[in-house]
Amino acid sequence: MELHIASIGGDGIGPEIITEAKKVLKKVCEKYGHTISYDDILMGGASIDVHGVPLTDETIEIAKKADAVLMGSIGGDTNTSPWYKLEPSLRPEAGLLKLRKALNLFANLRPAVLYPQLAGACPLKEEISARGFDMLIMRELTGGLYFGERHTEEVNGVRTAIDTLTYNEEEIRRVAIKAFDVAMVRNKKVTSVDKANVLDSSRLWRTVVNEVAKDYPEVIVEHMLVDNCAMQLVKDPAQFDVILTENMFGDILSDEASMVTGSIGMLASASMNDTKFGLYEPSHGSAPDIAGKNIANPLATILSAAMMLKYSFGLLEEAKAIETAIYQVLDDGYRTGDIMSEGMKKVSCSEMGDLVSERI
Ligand code: IPM
Ligand code: MG
Repeated sequence: MELHIASIGGDGIGPEIITEAKKVLKKVCEKYGHTISYDDILMGGASIDVHGVPLTDETIEIAKKADAVLMGSIGGDTNTSPWYKLEPSLRPEAGLLKLRKALNLFANLRPAVLYPQLAGACPLKEEISARGFDMLIMRELTGGLYFGERHTEEVNGVRTAIDTLTYNEEEIRRVAIKAFDVAMVRNKKVTSVDKANVLDSSRLWRTVVNEVAKDYPEVIVEHMLVDNCAMQLVKDPAQFDVILTENMFGDILSDEASMVTGSIGMLASASMNDTKFGLYEPSHGSAPDIAGKNIANPLATILSAAMMLKYSFGLLEEAKAIETAIYQVLDDGYRTGDIMSEGMKKVSCSEMGDLVSERI
């Protein structure tokens, strides 16, 4: 198979971790007889430095022509980076939001898994972590507060800021279908999270999710209020399989879910549209404080590459080969600094990429 990828190194540790993901993909392609080519494109701060904007229309066109987009991370230190002196629409994150919208990437899949080898890093009590957990957050990604009308004005001399939260039934239905489809190949449970005791958009959300659920009689569906969900994630994460939620709630809950794994450096993500096209990136940020030091953990990006093989190319065996290689590296005791514990062997970002490649 020929794989044509648009690749975004981005900012901070982004270029380093992307290099390692490409290293592993090269090995996979050699072993399984595929060819892979990249269009390296600029986004975020890296694009601001060259073009003055975080994402150009030409770059969007290149991304659209690719089979999938593989991304490192974007953004800098919000306190010190000059990028954050620019107006909001010109800052690094605006590039990512624009790309999500332009590519119609409405479904964001964020798995949060407790790796048995890393269970010691889990910040939860052992009686909770011992049960293990493996959930996937399906976050709506192109609607809600993120993309609603917003402005700041003076109302009777008082500075007033307005953000609007809108969802229509089609936006809810398409992401709900994705969640139920994923649940069918996982543990057949969907927890839909909303704030239906307060918000109209949440009441519509609940109604539409129940309509979609009728087509999936095998899937258990439950509804949970977002504040309760925030509690349940630390109290009993093992209860979750697929969590389906809107954009803003999903942003917050996915950070919480990744934190309870204790190893955010291990978590991948996929953002999909209605086709097989997707954008794949680690769940973590650009970590500007450790950029350029070759100490970042590339595993989340390598796992994102595995998700890309699975979802965009249907290459299940190849994806499995990457996951298995990572398991072996962890079993063999190799750790980057973020997941280091006593008795383990500390390795650099590039060494970690080598270790995974060797095991493909
Ligand atoms: C994420 C990030 C982004 C978001 C930021 C960088 C705009 O936090 O992918 O979760 O809020 O969606
Ligand atoms: Mg976030």
